Parts: sequence; C-alpha cells; structure tokens
Amino acid sequence: MCGIVGCVLDKKAAPIIIDSIKKLEYRGYDSVGIATVTDSINVKKGSGKIKEVDDEIKLKDIDGNIGIAHVRWATHGNPTKENAHPHCDCKNKISIVHNGIIENYKELRQELLNEGHVFKSETDTEVIPHLIEKYMDEGLDLLKSVQKTVKRLIGSYALAVLSSDEPDRIIGARNESPLIVGVSDHGNYLASDVPAILNETKKVIYLEDKEIIVLKKDDVTIMDLDLNVLEKKITTITWDPEMAEKGGYEHFMIKEIYEEPQVIKDTLSEAEKIKEIVSKFKNFNRICFVACGTSYHASLIGEYLIESQIGIPTEVILASEFEYFQKTLDKHTLVIFITQSGETADTIKALKIAKKKSETLAIVNVVGSSITREADHVIYTRAGPEISVAATKTYISQLICIYLLVAYLGENEKLLDNLYKISRLSEKILSREEQIREIAKKYKFARDFFYIGRGFNYPTALEGALKLKEITYIHGEGYPAGELKHGPLALIEDNIPVVGILPPGPSYRKTYNNLQEIKARGADMIILGANNDTHLDDIEDKLLFDPEIDEVLSPLLYIIDLQLLAYYISIEKGIDPDKPKNLAKSVTVE
Ligand code: F6R
Repeated sequence: MCGIVGCVLDKKAAPIIIDSIKKLEYRGYDSVGIATVTDSINVKKGSGKIKEVDDEIKLKDIDGNIGIAHVRWATHGNPTKENAHPHCDCKNKISIVHNGIIENYKELRQELLNEGHVFKSETDTEVIPHLIEKYMDEGLDLLKSVQKTVKRLIGSYALAVLSSDEPDRIIGARNESPLIVGVSDHGNYLASDVPAILNETKKVIYLEDKEIIVLKKDDVTIMDLDLNVLEKKITTITWDPEMAEKGGYEHFMIKEIYEEPQVIKDTLSEAEKIKEIVSKFKNFNRICFVACGTSYHASLIGEYLIESQIGIPTEVILASEFEYFQKTLDKHTLVIFITQSGETADTIKALKIAKKKSETLAIVNVVGSSITREADHVIYTRAGPEISVAATKTYISQLICIYLLVAYLGENEKLLDNLYKISRLSEKILSREEQIREIAKKYKFARDFFYIGRGFNYPTALEGALKLKEITYIHGEGYPAGELKHGPLALIEDNIPVVGILPPGPSYRKTYNNLQEIKARGADMIILGANNDTHLDDIEDKLLFDPEIDEVLSPLLYIIDLQLLAYYISIEKGIDPDKPKNLAKSVTVE
C-alpha cells in the first residue's frame, strides 16, 4: 500500500535508498521514484516494477547524500510516470513522497489552482508540495510549512519532504499510515516498515499519529503537531537482515512456506505469555473476532474452535463491515483483532470503535505496528518478516496463537499436548512438494476451482481458494461441503477440479458423501485425507496425511498443501507469486 524511504547520510544516498525501497516492494509495485538534493532537487521516476524502471533509467545514478524514494500502489490516478512519486512544487524546490490518502484533496487542489499553482499529476498527493510551497512563499521555513500543511490535511499520510532551500534535512510526518525512524552512526532513516532499513541499522523509533520528524545526518527530533519536542524510546530489532532475504529460494512465498515448521515452534514458545494474558481477561460472555482476508479465515477457525471446544458464543466480523455491527458490543464482549501487519486500515478503524465499549485483544506479527498501540492486550505471532504478498506463515502462526488461546481459555490439556506434535508433522507435508507440482501441472489451465470442507476445514477451503485467486488469477471458491447441493452444484461439470478436505473424524462421513455427490457430476477430485482411508483408493490425485492428525488440528496442516498447490500453479503459469497484480501486502486505506 505504497512504501516510502528517506535518509540523510555521510555518503551518496541513492544506492542505499534504492536497496531499501526494494525491501518495501511488497507494499506496491505499480511505479517507483527517487529524489535527492544537491544544489537543486533531482528526481527520477517511472511506472513498472523497481527492476524494470531501474534497468531503463538507472535509479541509483543520482548524486546527493540526502534523498527520498517511493514504491506505489495506485489509489488516485493510474500507475503512470506522471502519477509516480516523488511529486514536486511549481518551482521544483520541494519534493515529497507520500503513503496514504488525502481525503480533502479536491478542495485543496481547487484552492491552489485558483492561486495559480500548476499540477502535473492526477494524484491526491500533489496538493502537499504545493501547499508547502505556498507557506514557504509566505516566509515560513520548511518545518513550519510542513506543520501548517499537515494541519490542513484530512486523511492518512506518512510523508517525507525535501527542500533545496534546506538541503540538510528531511521533514517527515505521520497520521494513520506507518512510519518509523532508523538511527545509526553514519546517518538516519525514515521508512514505512522495518525490513527497509535492517541492512543499515537495527535501532528503530516507532512514530505515533500526528507526529512530525526533523531528520538530519547527526540528529533526529520528533515533535507533536504544535512542535513540542517528544521523548521517544529507541527499540532494537531482533530480526536479522537475512530473514527478509530470499536465502536461496526462488521466491519469498516458497521460502516462507518452508519456514512454517520453525514458525510453529517459535509461536508455541509464546504459550506462557498467552496463558498470562488469558488470566488477565475480565469477565466476558461473548467473543467477537474482527479481521480481513487471510486473518479473517484464521478468525473463522477460532470461531469453530471456541464454539465447539468451550461453548462461548462467538462470531467473526469482517473489519470493513464492523461499523454496522457495533451496537451490541458491551463490557462483557471480548473483541479479538487478528492482523499480521498490524497496519490494516479497516482493522484499525474497527479497533478504535470497539475499544470504547469492550475489552480488546490484538494478535499481530509486526512488533510496534499501529494496532499494538491501541489494543488492551497484545499477543505476538512469531512468524518473522513476511515479504510475499500472499500470507502463508503468518496464517499458521495466527492459528497457533488461536489454538493456544482456546487451550488456555478452555483449560484443555489434551489440545495443548497435541499442538506440540504439529511442527514435526508439518515437515512431512513439505517433503511431498514434487507430487503437488505434478497436480499443479495438470490443472494449470483450469478456469475455476472449488474447495470443499466442513466444520473446522470450511475456513481452510476458503483460505485455499483465496491463495489460488491471489497468485494464479484462477477463479476459486471455497464452500462448506453440505452447501453445494443448495445451489453451486449446478456449476459442477466434467473435469472441473474440486479440492475436497476429508480428515478422519466426526465430520468424515457427511463430507465423504458430499464429495461423492460432486464426483458423480464429473468433477476431477483432489482429495486431502488420511493415508489409511481405503475409500480413496480410486482417487488419482490425493494428498494423504498421517491419521494421528485429528480433525480439530487438521486445519494447521491441510492448508500447507493448499498453499503449495497455489504456489506451483502460479509458477507453472509464469506468474510472480510474490507480487500478484492489483494487490499490496499491507492495506493502509479503508
Ligand atoms: C492474503 C492476504 C490478505 C491479508 C489481509 C489482512 O494472502 O495477505 O488477505 O490477510 O489484507 O492483512 P493483515 O493480516 O495484515 O491485517
């Protein structure tokens, strides 16, 4: 959802800035641009992925020890060179990069047009350099002009601003879009996210909404919107830079899938902390999960688990729909927010609504992200940085946290013990990659896929279908096994691939019958089941599991096959699974 970087160094900035912005490419890859200051502002930008633009216009070939850069995920205006950031004022003395949406940009643009400003793009962002120009023309310095400008903006922004009149500094500002500061002995940094600066420093300051930053080579000053200086804590990041690199894998997605057994172990090591948080919950008689996308599917598994294992009324609401359901919240409702990034705008908005009435818990992967500062309690998933746009290892880590939560809430020792087997079993699944690749080859030309599951694995079906849609551009639908006969069965025709999730357990018989109904209509079945299931002898494409995995835990393992299936179909189709079209990793607009 756009990524920004800025730095003021004791050496040429462009090579470091471009390496940093590459680490944020998961946030957007429609276009890219860089600006530095020497005697004047120098800008290079273009539309396309960083590599394509760099090959064409050599982004690192630009002088100056101070600079800003941007990768874009278009919101207002097509992904063209003109709409790419940085954007400048009329005199080319100010240059800015922006992540977020300026909601009142039309009014501001009209005001500036009336005053004679000339605009070069269709973006909401371009009003910002022109407003700063207007205030500098009135005699204010850069900091005061940015201050006056941001006070007029309605919406979300993470900003980095350069001016050739004050070439020793970058002014930054944040409201509802992520922005961090990195500090080091050879200069200082601003970035949307930690991976961008990990190669340069591990010392980070997390910024809050409505803060302004003056970044110089030897000094960082952070202020509120009235320019009162704030005391901020420096946090040392524990992630290694290598964790955000591909480490020999062809794509981040497959690397991140292969990290899942370790992620399971790491997240299980949070068990004691989760137990302690559970002991602090106030009295509640209802649970409500709120999330988007893959995190929503993890929440659905939470709903099935809590309803079936503990019997507390539970519901799951999509964060973008949450405002329509807020009336029934009260102090006896525990609201659980699940988000890997901790920056999803819909989820943040919902949390702000919920915390007025109810106790809130956030399950988050990114330490220090916005959500972690709003919720009453925070549980960290231990997935490490996830760079591929499609969530894989963070989903598994969210599930582990949910299972631990349920085990402690329900004082269920058996569930807890069984969870510790999962990491070993997940390694076995990864060893059958070749078989999955063969299935991917067979079905890569399919137009539609169905994913069918019952109970705990209905959400697995939804998540399998989401992975397929995202990175293969094939239409995939997840359905509860019993629901097809109420309509969608009409879509089943010869050779349509249907993935059936069939773990041993109480739901087996009914799911098996439903799958037979589908097979009888000519579908090609791909079955995920147990390796001692003799009913599957006539099924050609099957991915079989150890029967020691019971139905309750099966969502933790069966999804790994579905992630691999989507990944290999994407590879067979020649799509880059790390950067699916139209998507971005962290969705910071509502
Ligand atoms: C899918 C995916 C998205 C995210 C969704 C929520 O692979 O990654 O559907 O799950 O945008 O993001 P977070 O978890 O960061 O709130």
